[in-house]
Amino acid sequence: MHISDSSSRILAGLLEARTGQQLTMSRRWRIETALSALLRERGIASLDELITILVMGKEPGLSDQVVEALLNNETYFFRDRTPFDTLAKHALPALAVKRASKKRLRIWSAGCSTGQETYSLAMLFADRPDQWRGWTIDILGTDVSSAVIDRARSGTYTQFEVQRGLAITQTIRWFEEANDGWRIVEDLRRNVRFQVHNLLEQPPQPGGFDIVLCRNVLLYLCSEKKAQAFERLGSAMADDGWLMLGAGETVIGQTRALTAGPQARGLYRLDQRDKSDRRSGDERRSAARS
Ligand SMILES: C[S@@+](CC[C@H](N)C(=O)[O-])C[C@H]1O[C@@H](n2cnc3c(N)ncnc32)[C@H](O)[C@@H]1O
Repeated sequence: MHISDSSSRILAGLLEARTGQQLTMSRRWRIETALSALLRERGIASLDELITILVMGKEPGLSDQVVEALLNNETYFFRDRTPFDTLAKHALPALAVKRASKKRLRIWSAGCSTGQETYSLAMLFADRPDQWRGWTIDILGTDVSSAVIDRARSGTYTQFEVQRGLAITQTIRWFEEANDGWRIVEDLRRNVRFQVHNLLEQPPQPGGFDIVLCRNVLLYLCSEKKAQAFERLGSAMADDGWLMLGAGETVIGQTRALTAGPQARGLYRLDQRDKSDRRSGDERRSAARS
């Protein structure tokens, strides 16, 4: 299937305008593969015909589907494993002490795709019942794509998806067989909720999160949008909260709001010296209390 330069520019521009994600020239080959199923489903003969329909604006919802098809949703349970060990070893024990009086933790998985990261977090707590008995653990998964959020909410995964990252014992413990694959058990779903949300907009719960994960989401944002996203992520964190990025991602040179924590690779904290462009501590604490 052929795509003209002008059509690929329009599609890349649409994706960037809605999500901040850039499809640089070297990644534009993805467009044809990513959109082929949507074209077939809609009976649209070519990418150039798709552009004509989009420009005429006669099919509401089509542009959302195009953007969703162009997003990279790659994910799997306990992706890269080490970050989850880091959370379990460094961030969670420290928070268990600091939040001991309230016994409540709030965690945000931003750009959660189909939910594997979010449910992996829930498993991290559920696998340590003695440590977290009596605690309220709220885990929020968000993504700009409503299609992946619908899948995450369903909590249903194929055999292949479950096998990627999970030991057989975890599958047996945390899933039940469903007609169309494996469904996460109710016990685990209880603490997890999902919401459509664009990272470049106001955070879902300003100042209230003890841990924010934003892994493999910001790689293809331009530096201006990356700084904006870091600003949003920082404003969602409690003063003593943690941000976790993906392997190969960093805040260094991208924002003044966050700084690398000395404790472990991949974990970041709010830079206490740079509060000028963030909400005051009082506002943050009152938001966290509510
Ligand atoms: C590669 S997946 C990463 C999923 C998961 N965090 C992981 O590491 O396995 C990136 C996800 O970020 C989402 N995303 C991209 N831009 C976004 C934005 N501006 N706001 C929220 N989510 C976004 C995509 O829809 C996609 O599901």
